[in-house]
Amino acid sequence: MNDSTPIDGTPTVKLLSKEYERYRERTPNSEAMADDLSEVVPAGVCSTFRAYDPYPVHADRTEGTTLYDVDGNEYLDFALNNGTQLVGHTHPELSEGVIDQIDRGTLYTRPNELIEFAARPLIDRWDAIEQVRFTNSGTESIMHATRLARAYTGREKIIRMEGAYHGAHDPALVSKMPPIERAGPETDPRPVSESQGIPDSVPDDVLLGTYNDAASVERLLREHGREVAAILVEPACLNLGLVEPTGGFLERLRELADEYNTVLIFDEVKTGVKLAPGGGAEYYGVQPDLVALAKAIGGGYPVGAFGGRRDIMDHIAADLDDGVATGAAHYGTYNGNPLALRAVGITLREILTADAYDHVTELAERLAGGYRDVIEDEDLEARVASAGSQGMVYFTEEPIRTFRDWTAVDEEFHEAYWFGMLNRGVIPHPHDASQQWTISVQHSAEEIDDHVAAFADLATDLAAAQR
Ligand SMILES: Cc1ncc(COP(=O)(O)O)c(C=O)c1O
Repeated sequence: MNDSTPIDGTPTVKLLSKEYERYRERTPNSEAMADDLSEVVPAGVCSTFRAYDPYPVHADRTEGTTLYDVDGNEYLDFALNNGTQLVGHTHPELSEGVIDQIDRGTLYTRPNELIEFAARPLIDRWDAIEQVRFTNSGTESIMHATRLARAYTGREKIIRMEGAYHGAHDPALVSKMPPIERAGPETDPRPVSESQGIPDSVPDDVLLGTYNDAASVERLLREHGREVAAILVEPACLNLGLVEPTGGFLERLRELADEYNTVLIFDEVKTGVKLAPGGGAEYYGVQPDLVALAKAIGGGYPVGAFGGRRDIMDHIAADLDDGVATGAAHYGTYNGNPLALRAVGITLREILTADAYDHVTELAERLAGGYRDVIEDEDLEARVASAGSQGMVYFTEEPIRTFRDWTAVDEEFHEAYWFGMLNRGVIPHPHDASQQWTISVQHSAEEIDDHVAAFADLATDLAAAQR
């Protein structure tokens, strides 16, 4: 673990140091466990994203809307495992169904009626989805959706937006929030692989557009149209906080995909079932050709899915011809396992009802309103974004519309906010300024008010640090 106590003396750094110090005092067991775990797993964590300075909160257990850490601290949780738990933690109906399923068998690798139980609500929620296939994660859903688009079109290149995150497989890590100094000019971004170990050939098939700039995508299509298998986009960028489409961006992508006979793929791993029952497609009124899903559809169980137009899904291989798949291959021992399918069916049919959406939307507006009042009272330089169950505070002067706007985000300042909230008993969103809060069906109005009260308590220090 790093000793990350900042040493210079700007007001932000002083505030962050103060919050770090308070954090260390409250979390000695987390610190000790971080040391121990670093011996057995690299950086002490099981996913690169989970490591941060000085050391992460180490979990003991979760229940409802609360996370208990290994030091006995209780946190009101608005991170909810990267927004996966729109249903909240340990939802009784979901736990009961999954426990029942454990007794009936955890893996069948044979067709069974749970497939219909889980698939139908997805088909009902998205106009674009006529058929689905289940996967085990968002990464797999994107990987298979893009392979399918290539099989369907017979083309290889994928247009994606600079800065967006689409999973952990090789092409998805090209220009995921690249360092600006290596990323080339905004009008002609250079592909940058985030990880060592990605072959040099991988970026060749990735074309970079700019989110909220349909003209950038049009330029790429004019030049490479016949080679482009898909346009891959998150309907709202939920790895830049919460950046919504403006100026008919999604509508124009729909037109361009039709004009150039390329497949429009919505990455709804984060937006799916969280902005609206039918995800970003419903919320913004634009239907793609394929949708990639994971996270909230399973209520916290590991599952993903990709689906879309039947004529495209028909290109998923049914068999092999002389050892070569007759379409896009989609394999996986745990695909559509009964625990995951039971979780998806219960989550979508029984928990995420119309009333549940009314509840989370109302509370999301209450939280956003509470933040705005505090910001005004304290004269803070900040703005609040809110959509469906999602929301975010940016401590910037101007709204963020594209990845290049992100340079305006003072990540150190945001870190002071995040640890300040933690020290006041609230996890406002997953660690990192690029993330956003999720309101779950189990949150109450009182808990929203407690969140706002913690922000109000911290806001005086934040405002002082800004001056
Ligand atoms: C937009 C988006 N796509 C894909 C993924 C990858 O999903 P998973 O972590 O389930 O592989 C993520 C994960 O955070 C994501 O935010």
